Amino acid sequence: MTDTTVPGATVAPAKPAIKPARPHFSSGPCAKPPGWSPEKLFLDSLGRSHRSKLGKGRLKRAIDLTRDVLGIPDTHRIGIVPASDTGAVEMAMWSMLGARPVTTLAWESFGQGWVTDAVKQLKIDPTVLTADYGAIVDLASVDQSHDVIFTWNGTTSGVRVPNGDWIRDDREGLTFADATSAVFAMELPWDKLDVTTFSWQKVMGGEGGHGVLILGPRAVERLESFTPDRPLPKIFRMTKSGKLIEGIFEGATINTPSMLAVEDYLFALEWAQEIGGLNALISRSTANATALDRIVQARDWLDHLPADPAIRSNTSVCLKLVTDADADAQAAMVKKMASLLEVEDAAYDIAGYRDAPPGLRIWCGATVDTGDIEALGPWLDWAWEQVKPA
Ligand SMILES: Cc1ncc(COP(=O)(O)O)c(C=O)c1O
Repeated sequence: MTDTTVPGATVAPAKPAIKPARPHFSSGPCAKPPGWSPEKLFLDSLGRSHRSKLGKGRLKRAIDLTRDVLGIPDTHRIGIVPASDTGAVEMAMWSMLGARPVTTLAWESFGQGWVTDAVKQLKIDPTVLTADYGAIVDLASVDQSHDVIFTWNGTTSGVRVPNGDWIRDDREGLTFADATSAVFAMELPWDKLDVTTFSWQKVMGGEGGHGVLILGPRAVERLESFTPDRPLPKIFRMTKSGKLIEGIFEGATINTPSMLAVEDYLFALEWAQEIGGLNALISRSTANATALDRIVQARDWLDHLPADPAIRSNTSVCLKLVTDADADAQAAMVKKMASLLEVEDAAYDIAGYRDAPPGLRIWCGATVDTGDIEALGPWLDWAWEQVKPA
């Protein structure tokens, strides 16, 4: 046989035989639930008033199924609010902060966003504890006479709080947990969380647009006893004449929601119930993260961004390239890898977040199938072979 290889030419490596069936590894919006298709959505509520008996009933069902799947106690209210997770976090911050000192914790971009809100917008002079990407702050040192704002899972660094043991039962302040990439994938200690927020497009693979705001009794007490010294836009207002507007937590939304997004979320919640509820969702995420970890362990060019396994996310898994190349060169390699994989329909949206150190971010939430994570490994090698430093 004649050797036709041109000396010095780069030969693209052979493509792996198997592709992920659903290459949707974005960290939000995330993969739709397995078996999802638009024809399967209940559409009678579309083109109807969200305040009709039908519309309100569907919104209430979304609240009830959220409680059921997540095991949220009756002590806590659940509301569907405008403007996704950011809306839910900011309406809580704007409505409740200022009554006592505040500590904000940040170890990545979104937590840093809440610091910016507290420092520059609300100007409440908080204590700020920060850690670099891949690390976490010293949770034991948090002063719990303060209101404490933190992100349960830092989506852009793949660092999560390991558990809620650091939150005291007899804390004087309120805890505010932005749990948007944690709910439905991690156990949350509801009795320790006074304010919890999330949006539908993460672990449930829903559509963006709406936030969910979960209030414990102490948060309601704060809302009813404290009037902040700042203007509140209508979409942030949760009380009337000093009393909580209970309707918000029963499906009477503040303004018009997308009923299509609500129906899509209901599909995901029903899927969650069918597969066995929260435990099954957590198991799926954990199996995905474990499969990805096996891929990482088997490669000397790839490693986890968080060095400590105890704080590693099982949803937004952030990885770094092991190379001597500088940050700009690594960013270029990541960009090229992500684009090669996208063109092949082998992996979508796996470049790390724009503010994070260059690396790959691979979503392992419950809607992703473990077989697809396993199929991704050889494709990562295929892409790396084409971008790695000579
Ligand atoms: C931890 C965290 N907080 C907040 C947000 C913003 O969420 P949304 O776009 O639903 O407002 C994100 C989005 O990725 C996030 O990961």
